[in-house]
Amino acid sequence: MTTAVIVVAAGSGTRLGHSEPKAFVPLGGDTILGVALDAVLGMREPPHVVLVVPAERVDEARERYAAVAAAASAPFDVVPGGETRQGSVSRGLAVLPRLIDTVLVHDAARPLTPPAVFEEVAAAVRARGRGVVPALAVVDTVKRVDPSGRVLETVDRSELAAMQTPQGFPRGALDWAYSHADEEYTDDAALVASTGLEVDVVHGDTRAFKITLPADLHRAEQLVAEREG
Ligand code: CTP
Ligand code: MG
Repeated sequence: MTTAVIVVAAGSGTRLGHSEPKAFVPLGGDTILGVALDAVLGMREPPHVVLVVPAERVDEARERYAAVAAAASAPFDVVPGGETRQGSVSRGLAVLPRLIDTVLVHDAARPLTPPAVFEEVAAAVRARGRGVVPALAVVDTVKRVDPSGRVLETVDRSELAAMQTPQGFPRGALDWAYSHADEEYTDDAALVASTGLEVDVVHGDTRAFKITLPADLHRAEQLVAEREG
């Protein structure tokens, strides 16, 4: 067992607009974070799991989920997050034990990502020795638009892909990239690529969509109900 999954769950969920931080919003009789954790623990080989949550939720998350992780034989840690997603990932990286050689970073906000995606990404990182991120082809026509709202041009869609998580990396590469990052990036692949390291894309999964707006939560609720019904 040398794979770790860092589940970043320390965001506030401003766009979702719920009274709870997004990861603690109810979903399928649990929370968004709980459903995400179940998917991680669905991996055939239990990974080392680090949950990164808002500082005031650390004790609650530990009490609520330590037993679930123990039942799956997954070593488990909960740490407080940072101001930004990138800050939260680095807090998670800081507590990984030495033996970990492959790290997957996952958004708690993508709770319905199937366990097979985690396995596929981890296996591809090991086989290729570089970063691997799941992505979907962009299906809409995409245009560049100026600030006044005027269409400038259509972007060649065949060169575009929408990034998902879990994003996987050899541990040394991710540690190195995080210690050298000099600005904020919206995902780990961008941060790692900014340091000159290569990152590959594998096929993502539509179920790995991110809960951002209330309509996304509604869709997740329906999918959980279908899955359990
Ligand atoms: N995240 C985090 N720490 C932060 C910001 C974000 O761990 N300081 C996590 C979120 O909990 C989420 C993931 O990064 O699982 C993706 O972020 P996003 O979907 O933007 O979530 P929020 O930042 O919570 O939402 P919003 O931007 O609407 O406030
Ligand atoms: Mg955010």
